[in-house]
Amino acid sequence: MSDFEVIVYEKKDGKGYITLNRPQALNAYNMQMRDELYQVLEAVRDDPDVRVVIFKGAGEKAFCAGADLTEFLTAPSPTIARQVRWERDVWGLLLSISKPIIAALHGYVLGDGVEIAMCCDIRVASEDAQFGAPEVGLGIIPAAGGSQTIPRVTGRAHALDMLLTGRWVKAEEVLRMKLVNWVVVRGDLLATVEKLADKIAGYDPLAVSYAKQSVTRGLDLSLGQGLELEANLGRQLQAARD
Ligand code: COA
Repeated sequence: MSDFEVIVYEKKDGKGYITLNRPQALNAYNMQMRDELYQVLEAVRDDPDVRVVIFKGAGEKAFCAGADLTEFLTAPSPTIARQVRWERDVWGLLLSISKPIIAALHGYVLGDGVEIAMCCDIRVASEDAQFGAPEVGLGIIPAAGGSQTIPRVTGRAHALDMLLTGRWVKAEEVLRMKLVNWVVVRGDLLATVEKLADKIAGYDPLAVSYAKQSVTRGLDLSLGQGLELEANLGRQLQAARD
């Protein structure tokens, strides 16, 4: 994994750390990052040593300041730039991973930054974090799932407030919107996330995976179908134990 340039991937005690690593550009998401992230996500999905994944951003200022605006300028249009990114379905891959994924969010969390966070299962922000969805102001709409994932977490009104106004929202407010689970002081961010990850990594990985699947897949089902899914997964877990 050492040949990556804009992603750092590390493993320690059952945890896989994925660090967005373009601090000089506030970890803006570019095509190279998309390609490297795709490879790293395949690796964490397939590596039994990785029980929990942690997403974070390098540098002091940002988790991720959104799509790389310089690539927008070189593409024929922002829409085509976005389309190109979709051709490699990194977000579909991220959402399909059945291991728990925790986001450590600091500084600027904009555009793709919010959308990456929304593909994670648990989100912890530091007090200095600022969130925003500037896409509509740039004449485009979210393309990493944000128009679907944000309302599923916050509800319609908060999602449309963020997406239509593009206003920046501070950590305390995103906590009220339920966009993040916790807000902690900056110095405690990584330790808080690692503590959660270690706790989960200590549990039976199959039970963890099935619990995640039951919730995430169940959200797209009716209550009746969801209960059926839960019962099925419970039976599969029991069978795997027997
Ligand atoms: N794409 C490409 N480069 C970016 C970037 C982005 N989305 N966001 C920041 N950068 C680069 C800046 O161009 C600058 O590069 P430079 O040092 O070579 O000039 C560097 O990161 C630092 O950013 P800077 O603007 O100097 O930091 P700041 O603290 O003054 O402002 C922001 C921070 C986030 C307010 C500002 O960078 C910004 O508005 N970024 C764009 C956010 C955006 O619209 N994202 C697209 C979402 S779809």
